[in-house]
Amino acid sequence: MSALAAEFDDVAGWTADAVERLGTAYAIPAACRGSANPATLAWLAEACGLSAGTRLLDVGAGLGGPAAWAAERFGVRPILLEPMPAAGRAAARLFGLPVLAADGARVPLRDGSVDAVWCLGVLDVVPDMAALLREIRRVLRPGGSLGLLVVVAQGRQVLPAPEGNAFPTRRELGDLLAATGFAVLRQIDRPDGTPPSWTRRAERVAAEVASRHRADRALALADRQSERFTRLFAAGQIVFRLVHAVGRPAPRPPLPPVKE
Ligand SMILES: C[S@@+](CC[C@H](N)C(=O)[O-])C[C@H]1O[C@@H](n2cnc3c(N)ncnc32)[C@H](O)[C@@H]1O
Repeated sequence: MSALAAEFDDVAGWTADAVERLGTAYAIPAACRGSANPATLAWLAEACGLSAGTRLLDVGAGLGGPAAWAAERFGVRPILLEPMPAAGRAAARLFGLPVLAADGARVPLRDGSVDAVWCLGVLDVVPDMAALLREIRRVLRPGGSLGLLVVVAQGRQVLPAPEGNAFPTRRELGDLLAATGFAVLRQIDRPDGTPPSWTRRAERVAAEVASRHRADRALALADRQSERFTRLFAAGQIVFRLVHAVGRPAPRPPLPPVKE
């Protein structure tokens, strides 16, 4: 079993089960698994100009907490895309939102068919970041916004990374966005200050999952992933970065030579 499947599929499914036992008030905090907090989501929503009716595609949506938050607070119409089957089923069950079971590098939507895209905590776990960003660029309407939450590397990384994760530096991320057709408008470090009521609910759900699945190998693997993250953050070797970018217009083809 891979650590990513344990973390993103098995534990995601158990998390939805735990929310169903505890109550809907627990759903959004427990279902934000890219470490988004309300301040992060608000920054991304305001930067991307989300409003009632915005078609928001969430690529690598996981359990759907961020998209559900945007629907509740901003009235957007989310579409979730998630390749892990149990996570996608759990998101549909928890929030009743439409979920595409697909890879972010092959989005089953038409060119220019969404107003905005979020992709939170996903880039560092995909083998080909450029393929995923190019595909997002394809489905985003001209002038549409991309909101990213990315774990970026700072300096030389000496501690072991969580399995299946590779962190771009700030410069690599900027180069990657430019090469895949995006212009970065604004970027900041992720705001802290998660309200205690949010943390308490997420922790209560995690404790419920642990109490039922303590003996499961998937939980041990997922815990090892988060311990490695915690050590890298504590050592200052990685940080969360928020980015607001827009698609650059495709370059015009050269004009045919003028005939005399
Ligand atoms: C850290 S979780 C973040 C989930 C969600 N965005 C959030 O913030 O709660 C990363 C997610 O990316 C998904 N993922 C991994 N590889 C992917 C790919 N190739 N395309 C789209 N999503 C992918 C995982 O299944 C997982 O749900």
